[in-house]
Amino acid sequence: MIAVVSDAVNAVYVIAVIVFILGLKAMSSPETARRGIVYAGVAMLVAVVVTFFISGLSNFALIAIGVIVGGGAGFYWARVVKMTAMPQMVAVFNGMGGGAAGAIAAVELLASLTSGATTGLSVAGAVIGSTSIAGSVIAFLKLQGWMPSRPIVLPARQPVNLAVLVVGVGFGVYAVASTTAIFLLPFFVLLLLYGILLTLPIGGADMPVVISLFNALTGIAVALDGFALVSGPLGDAGYAMVIAGTLVGAAGSLLTVLMARAMNRSIGNVLFGAFGATEETGVAVAGQMKPIDAEDVAVMMSYANEVIIVPGYGMAVAQAQQKVKELADLLEAKGVPVKFAIHPVAGRMPGHMNVLLAEAGISYDKLFDRDEINNEFPNADVVLVIGANDVVNPAARRVGSPLQGMPILDVDRAKNVIVIKRGQGKGFAGIENELFYKDNCRMLYGDAQQAVGKLVQALKRS
Ligand code: TAP
Repeated sequence: MIAVVSDAVNAVYVIAVIVFILGLKAMSSPETARRGIVYAGVAMLVAVVVTFFISGLSNFALIAIGVIVGGGAGFYWARVVKMTAMPQMVAVFNGMGGGAAGAIAAVELLASLTSGATTGLSVAGAVIGSTSIAGSVIAFLKLQGWMPSRPIVLPARQPVNLAVLVVGVGFGVYAVASTTAIFLLPFFVLLLLYGILLTLPIGGADMPVVISLFNALTGIAVALDGFALVSGPLGDAGYAMVIAGTLVGAAGSLLTVLMARAMNRSIGNVLFGAFGATEETGVAVAGQMKPIDAEDVAVMMSYANEVIIVPGYGMAVAQAQQKVKELADLLEAKGVPVKFAIHPVAGRMPGHMNVLLAEAGISYDKLFDRDEINNEFPNADVVLVIGANDVVNPAARRVGSPLQGMPILDVDRAKNVIVIKRGQGKGFAGIENELFYKDNCRMLYGDAQQAVGKLVQALKRS
């Protein structure tokens, strides 16, 4: 009977894993992403429920309380979170995963010290899980604004960090070799410290990349724990953790690489480069920013051959997407085609702009990524940049700029560029934007929602 149940549980795990993979596949396109999230959620729910049927499990009530409290808190937070606060929520959720992986590894390590079973995998799981939770907490604090988001660069940070890691791992290995549990304490303390030290010198702008990397690492830690558990209480069911962890590890690694590539930075530079620690100096920007009012912009757009809208972080903060949709509808009603140019790292998280625009009901076939639309800017009569800065900064083409090599949207090559922003604020990279000073560029100052609202009113009148 036990064997039959165990086979049935394993069969359900295999089905859950297949649904996970289908979910991941669906997440690769904005059109099917929602469905992908539902698939993955259902698969996870099924995997959790079926785990209760594994023979030899105890503490059911405690597990159920954990599931209800954790699941309830996660459900509530995910419902109320603002889109702009999503990165820090992901940091916390991911940190929890890292913490859970570290905790499982700790229990396994303690158990194996007495039984003498293999512990190498648990040590590795503990190293990664602890680094990930501590780093994720720092990422959350920075993104939430509860500590300075700029890079915090301590003296001799590289050798110090390396020493903390090496000594920490040394304690773990020694604890296992000598079967002395007390050495696990400095092992975990030093690894948590390593996670903190690793993340302090990384600036807020780079946090999404780091969170994605920690996410990948958490997946790997879970997979390692799964291997360790196969020889323990979970038996074959540990392989479900191995597969789920590996999927998270692989998807997270790919996302990390894609984000780093979209900024033309190496992952090493993101992690160890303390990007943004020094302000760019000595950049001469010629001329002045030239303001324009909403009435004039409405006239320009009414007579344009096409309008390309470039949304950025400022549009997200202002929650201007509904107004933007109204604007696009009005223009199209006047016979002016409207397209949206989406930079892969516009905003603060992957897919940020796609999600916001979809939320407002803007259809996907109007969204174009950088490669699809970059050649079209020189032909466009009007490009409307809404709260975007770094992703349209031509400084990226200049040798020596901190943005050097970042693939940008070439909006400066359009006939007319209108930029909506509140004032002279810089973008996330903290450098001047040469675009704003160009002859073909005009500034429509104001909060994105209000400024687009004024455009809508002006268009209705024109
Ligand atoms: P940013 O460069 O951050 O610029 C946003 C601009 O919006 C600012 O210059 C600000 O100027 C303006 N703004 C802020 N609040 C506003 C409001 N309420 N109304 C109107 N304007 C407002 O944005 P971006 O061009 O989208 O670039 C994203 C940055 O994040 C890049 O540096 C990118 O590398 C980084 N990053 C993104 C990701 C992902 S995955 N998206 C990952 C890692 C890093 P004012 O203060 O003058 O208004």
